[in-house]
Formats: sequence, C-alpha cells, structure tokens
Amino acid sequence: MALRRGANRHRSGCAGAGPSRQSNVMNSDRKLSAAIDERQSIRRFRPQRVARTVVKRLLAAAIRAPSAHNRQPWRFAVLDEEATKQRLANAMGERLRSDRIADGDDANAIDADVRRSYSRIADAPLVIVVCIDARVMDRYPDARRNQAEHLMAVQSTAMAVQNLLLAAHSEGLGACIMCAPLFCPDTVRDALDLPREWQAQMLLTIGAAAGDGKGRPRRAAEEIVIWVSGEDAVRARS
Ligand SMILES: Cc1cc2nc3c(=O)[nH]c(=O)nc-3n(C[C@H](O)[C@H](O)[C@H](O)COP(=O)(O)O)c2cc1C
Repeated sequence: MALRRGANRHRSGCAGAGPSRQSNVMNSDRKLSAAIDERQSIRRFRPQRVARTVVKRLLAAAIRAPSAHNRQPWRFAVLDEEATKQRLANAMGERLRSDRIADGDDANAIDADVRRSYSRIADAPLVIVVCIDARVMDRYPDARRNQAEHLMAVQSTAMAVQNLLLAAHSEGLGACIMCAPLFCPDTVRDALDLPREWQAQMLLTIGAAAGDGKGRPRRAAEEIVIWVSGEDAVRARS
C-alpha cells in the first residue's frame, strides 16, 4: 500500500503536468486506489439486468490492458439472456456431475455441487466467458517456447480481467471469477457455439451485489517480498 501511494505521488508530480491536470491525476489515483482496496469477490446478486452500455464500458476497460506483443489474445462471450445462461449452466453442471461421478464422489455431495454451480451461473444477471485465441501469438518450432507464448496469452488475459473487475466495482457492481470453464473448455465452447479456436479460461458473474464479500485477508508483504539488494533479503533467507 505504502509503495503504491508513493508511486502515485511520483507520477502526479511529473514534469509537464499543469495544476489542473495534476489534480485530475491525483483524483483518479485516489479513485483507483480506493477501487483496488475496496473490490471484493461478490457471489450473490440482485436480479436486475446490467445495461448493455455499462457492459460495453466494462469491456472497454478490459481491452485497455497491456498484452504480450500487444496481440490482445483475450476474447469475451457476453451472456445476458436467461436462456443462454441456463444453457451454459446446464452443460457445465452435467460435465461437473460426470467428472465427479468418475472420481467416485458421494451422490448427494455431487447433487449439491451441481445445483450450486448451476445457480451461480444462471442466477447472475450478467455472465462474461473469458477466452483466449492463441492464434494471434507467436509460434516456435519447440514446445518450451510455445508454452511460454501460451502463458503470455493467459497472463495478458488475466490483466484484462483485473481491469474489468475494477471497472465493475467503480460502476457500483459486484463481480466474481469462476475458474470452472478451464476444466471443461470444450463443454463451454459447444454450449455457446463459440469459435473452435476460443479456449475458455474462466467466467465472470456480474451484477448489483446482494450482500458483502467475504473480506478475504492478504499475506503480509514481509512474507512474500524479497528486496534482493537490501538487508531484508538476507533476513528473509535466514
Ligand atoms: C484465477 C481465479 C480463479 C477463481 N475462481 C473462483 C471460483 O471458481 N469460484 C469462486 O467462488 N471464486 C473464485 N475466485 C475468487 C477468489 O476466491 C477470490 O479472489 C479470493 O478468495 C480473494 O477474495 P477477494 O476477491 O474477495 O479479495 C477466483 C479468483 C481467481 C483470481
């Protein structure tokens, strides 16, 4: 936190920024800082629709993200009609069921899980399925570098998703990621008739919040950061 605020002060004071530009930058820095601090995953929503003009603003924020080689490998399938959300929820639920039956899990637990998965998707006012299209990335003759390119596409798409989550928060909406599509990309593609090359990564459920987030804690910086050139590095490794 202290680091981020320090960085913002530096940017606000950069050469050439006149007083009004400076205060605009400081205002938007404060808003961004607040959005980063306040955003939480919201998993339950009020039923009202999200206007398509708002959806377009969320997508515009997403695609301002940086991407490897600026290839913009992200792809988005927007679902705001009941029938489409239900089709996806059904298909993913049945895939979840067959995976868990194959795992030998308890039938009641499977039923409960499938019901929860269905309602998370079908009851969200807005669902955005996030995919990558790897065709825009570089290709190499070896698997090692192709894997790196694939990861770059995934990293770029994750950055777009974070932009979208922050934009949703600043529109007064709640949102949550569901990683389930990563386990059944073919099911998602077939249910929504997506282009064959779109690889589903995750889906986002979005809407007006019907409750608070869980207030999940974060690890302290000291636990996860090594200052390689400082004394802390020595301490962290000892
Ligand atoms: C890649 C990724 C996948 C996630 N998948 C799920 C998911 O399948 N279901 C879910 O309820 N939350 C999911 N989340 C949300 C996390 O649980 C949540 O971000 C984390 O617990 C921190 O809470 P917060 O977002 O409220 O700060 C996912 C988050 C990320 C980044």
